[in-house]
Amino acid sequence: MKNNTAWWLRITVAFFLVIVLMEIYIDSGDQPAFLVYPTMMFGFMALILLLLIAIAFIVQAIENVLYNTLDEEAKVRYLAAKEDKWEWTWGKKMYNKMLGSKPMEAEGEIILDHNYDGIRELDNNLPPWWVYLFYASIVFGVVYLLRFHVFNDYDQKLEYEQEVAAAQLEIEAYKKTAKGLVDANTVELLTDASDINAGKGIFESNCVACHMADGGGGIGPNLTDQNWILGGGIKNVFNTISEGGRDGKGMIAWKQNLKPLEMAQVASYVLSFQGTTPANPKDAEGDIWVDPNAPAQETPAEQTVPTIEIDSASVTMN
Ligand code: HEC
Repeated sequence: MKNNTAWWLRITVAFFLVIVLMEIYIDSGDQPAFLVYPTMMFGFMALILLLLIAIAFIVQAIENVLYNTLDEEAKVRYLAAKEDKWEWTWGKKMYNKMLGSKPMEAEGEIILDHNYDGIRELDNNLPPWWVYLFYASIVFGVVYLLRFHVFNDYDQKLEYEQEVAAAQLEIEAYKKTAKGLVDANTVELLTDASDINAGKGIFESNCVACHMADGGGGIGPNLTDQNWILGGGIKNVFNTISEGGRDGKGMIAWKQNLKPLEMAQVASYVLSFQGTTPANPKDAEGDIWVDPNAPAQETPAEQTVPTIEIDSASVTMN
């Protein structure tokens, strides 16, 4: 039997309708749902498409069976009815109108007189689709001229500056949410219990062999005192963890094994050892570290030196 050509058309229309409905009803903030839940949406749409195709096949099969039960006369009537229904007459008419060409039979009306060795010329009208585009471009040009050259609405420079400013704001906002984007220059001390706990987990599975669970030190230096070989404060500690210690000392660069956020978490955990008293503290190594960005009244570092010496003296007595 004659297949109706519109089945794939119906599927496509239904498919896009479902997409539109999903965009409307799935709450995905100001972004399209497809960007927010790509895999879920893709899977779901694939399922819908499969279902639609299956339905189309089943309907087709039923139609085929019914068609074959008809007698000859009914078959002809059925096909005629179907022709009217599913041929997309409006679209076809529109297409021909936009092309504007004369049907082959009527070419005699527009053929020109001359004849070059049997080659004749038709005097066709300009195709309406082209003419309408031309008119539209004139309208566009007038509006454009008035808007940008007469009334000076805005120019490229302003547009560029606005876009850059908006992008800058977006970058700032993104950086605030993306903790994983830190490096040694931007890292901040993390104080959330969840971050400190995560740091503790990382420390216990990677660092205790050399630094001891309480940070007292062993192969690696004591992390609980104010003395640092490679510099204290979150930025230096992050940098040491990321890039490793001095060559041959045993502290490897952890950036291959830990993500930036993980290094920030474990660095923050390491700094939480400050001021605690480990069971077997290793002697202080390196210099007392003074935060160069600390407020001025905290700076008199010399005064703290004696107390540290007393500390290390009591350490040796242990
Ligand atoms: C194989 C032993 C070893 C392991 C494992 C190890 N470290 Fe170290 N760590 C050291 C040594 C040795 C040093 C001293 C490096 C130097 O002197 O340059 C050090 C130095 C440090 C320092 C700088 C201390 C200072 O005084 O400046 C920090 C911070 C640190 N380690 C943190 C960590 C963290 C966090 C981990 C786990 C992710 C870790 N270490 C794993 C051996 C180790």
